[in-house]
Amino acid sequence: MQINFASMDMPTEGTAVFLVEKDKSFSGAAAKMDSDMDGALSKAMTVGRFSGNMGQVKEIAAPAKVALDRILLVGVGDATKLTEAKWTEVGGTIFAALANSGSKAAGVVVEIEDADTVSMAEGAMLRSYRFDKYRTKEPDGKKPTLQSVAFHVVNAQTAQVQFERREKVASGVFFTRDLVSEPANILNPESFADEIKGLSALGVDVEVLGEAEMAKLGMNALLGVGQGSAFESKLVIMRWNGAQSDEQPISFIGKGVTFDTGGISLKPGAGMEQMKWDMGGAGTVVGLMKALAGRKAKVNVVATVGLVENMPSSTAQRPGDVVTSMSGQTIEILNTDAEGRLVLCDAMWYTQDRFKPKFMIDLATLTGAIITSLGHEHAGLFSDSDDLSAQLSDAGSATGDKVWRMPLHENYDKLIDCATADMKNIGGPGAGSITAAQFLKRFTNDVPWVHLDIAGTVWSDKDLPLSEKGGTGFGVRLLDRFVADNYEN
Ligand code: BES
Ligand code: MN
Ligand code: ZN
Repeated sequence: MQINFASMDMPTEGTAVFLVEKDKSFSGAAAKMDSDMDGALSKAMTVGRFSGNMGQVKEIAAPAKVALDRILLVGVGDATKLTEAKWTEVGGTIFAALANSGSKAAGVVVEIEDADTVSMAEGAMLRSYRFDKYRTKEPDGKKPTLQSVAFHVVNAQTAQVQFERREKVASGVFFTRDLVSEPANILNPESFADEIKGLSALGVDVEVLGEAEMAKLGMNALLGVGQGSAFESKLVIMRWNGAQSDEQPISFIGKGVTFDTGGISLKPGAGMEQMKWDMGGAGTVVGLMKALAGRKAKVNVVATVGLVENMPSSTAQRPGDVVTSMSGQTIEILNTDAEGRLVLCDAMWYTQDRFKPKFMIDLATLTGAIITSLGHEHAGLFSDSDDLSAQLSDAGSATGDKVWRMPLHENYDKLIDCATADMKNIGGPGAGSITAAQFLKRFTNDVPWVHLDIAGTVWSDKDLPLSEKGGTGFGVRLLDRFVADNYEN
């Protein structure tokens, strides 16, 4: 999709979009259009009960004498109260309303003074993504027609410059969505690692460790999860050095289970296809690296993803097995379906041991329990750092990738203590997301740390303002903003 910024004149082809504030009458270009159309816009509003509420849209076919296809009125409510995240959603709404309309071009006339045009453009861009590579045919009227959107603003040049950066971030989001949507017969630990190597074209240093190298390092927790799979488990390390070489890096770690059957503790069949996106944490981290490298962020970043496939087979790990993690701590596997923490614990230990980062942020589709707690709106945030938590919460409100802080407490530790080994990989029936986080905390080696449980936010079963049903790309914009606002010089 082509997005550009034009001067404050009237669109001449396709659809003209006007933003309408609640209970306000037309002014400027919209008023002129209304009078050119003999009051058809005002009439459509009254007869169609359109009052300019946020999210309302009204489509009016243009009369033959006007060159345009149609006029679209988009309600924005009280514009003075709209946050950046809301403006982004307005952009997504505009795209969704026009995608299949028949128009190839649209022009949005932005006359509201403090409208955040760049965010609207970003929203339109984000909403335009589709994962359609496996559709060899599409029903009539399903294939989007819209190819370009122009935002008519006072200062097109400034907006264009600001937008370029958002475009880079959007391409990171799209990479994440591509990875998350890819089925597990195509995306496995080996092909995923190859896919990541493509980031080297942007200047990201990519290193891939195989099973022999991980065995030498003692990463038996991670290796145990992948031992039932026909594919080789991989640990991929990405480095982006955008700051001085002596500056301590920040780090991100992702769970990359390319398919989670549950292993010998097999999951029920219904809904199991969803477990193709159990690599969402890794997918987000990889998309983030694409975004940061794409916009040449002035920061040093290390990102590590643990890529495994959790399968039942004669070589698979069994309940009751005991593994020694890279940290030296031993773990009794009581449920092979609690595999994410086993992948992360070695990836985290490796990351802090080798790179001595300022902090670690891990992302994982770790527990179904976080969906019970928070649904699909917020990701669960667990951290021992109030500063990192606040920074992430702010970045979440700004971008709309929202996070909600959950508790950690030593009293939960007894739920994962174990007689056979140092710990077991499941807790009791309650607080499933917290005991999982409490498990990970044992592998931070006191490096400041945040765990984001994104099981509820990686995928959506319905269309959202910024994404169609499918992979959401949640977390890329959140972490890009978090880095930009706090760790770039
Ligand atoms: N990948 C799942 C968590 C998950 C569930 C993600 C639903 C997205 C949607 C994870 O590996 C898992 O199976 N967790 C178990 C843990 C339990 C066995 C302690 C769970 O949540 O049921
Ligand atoms: Mn599992
Ligand atoms: Zn899993």
